[in-house]
Amino acid sequence: MDNLLNIDRLNKTQVEELIYLASSLKKDFPNINPVNPLQKKIILFLFLEPSTRTKTSFNFACSILGANVIDISPMTSSMTKGESFENTLKTLGSYPADALVLRSDENHHIDVAQNLLDFPVINAGSGTKSHPTQTLADLMTLKEQGLSIEKLKISIVGDIEHSRVARSLIEALNFFGSKINICAPEYFKPTDLSNISYFEDLSEAIKDVDVLMTLRIQKERIKKSKINFNEYSNKYMITGKIMNEFNINYLMHPGPVNEGIEIDRGLQDSSKSLILEQVKNGTWIRCAVLLKILLDGKS
Ligand code: CP
Repeated sequence: MDNLLNIDRLNKTQVEELIYLASSLKKDFPNINPVNPLQKKIILFLFLEPSTRTKTSFNFACSILGANVIDISPMTSSMTKGESFENTLKTLGSYPADALVLRSDENHHIDVAQNLLDFPVINAGSGTKSHPTQTLADLMTLKEQGLSIEKLKISIVGDIEHSRVARSLIEALNFFGSKINICAPEYFKPTDLSNISYFEDLSEAIKDVDVLMTLRIQKERIKKSKINFNEYSNKYMITGKIMNEFNINYLMHPGPVNEGIEIDRGLQDSSKSLILEQVKNGTWIRCAVLLKILLDGKS
């Protein structure tokens, strides 16, 4: 692996290897051998959108592996003085860094970065299209429950149209042949996805599935919101009653969670919720990605 730009640039074997490595690191921690495998490596972070989970887990991963982090804050960078994304990247490319971890609201920025930089680029979430490390953490979480991804039946509910998490997950699940339902009101229905079954009606979408993943409404990506949140929640908010009535064993959400909108208050703490497992596994997946890119290179 020489970059991680999008999940579809990996193959099924690479996905499985990354999850295997992440699981081994999780099991071995704190006795990771060798100690500090990324000592003397310097990782640049450029997060142009807010992040709690992804940024913190990349930070933890670098700390666990002994790499140094240089975090470029957009608010105190010269981007606030009008420097373009391209020129910012050319500037960052002049430093002796070993990798860039990039989050951006623009779909094309990740490819621009890869074209401009001589060192590896790792996607920490780009626009509405791609969030590969979230997908790897989600697949690891499902495997930990003993679920077969090949036989998985999952329903993804919510703002699919603006969700990079949903797009990357669907791309990866398609490697494995999982059965994927998506459920959204017409205004969140995507037009660019294949090998999925679309339902507007929640009860149709969640019949006979093992896992339900619900998504946040991405208000920051919706230009003119015509959404009535009460109406949305009345139709699509996931409750404990729904989980029990439809006999669904696992609830996932990539976070951040808006309780009382897409998910009932308290449900993320229920025994069916894998939400904090997704967060925990994020650290180990990001360790695995950094190791594969920085130590294994193109192997
Ligand atoms: N799931 C996810 O990407 O969360 P953050 O925006 O907090 O990183």
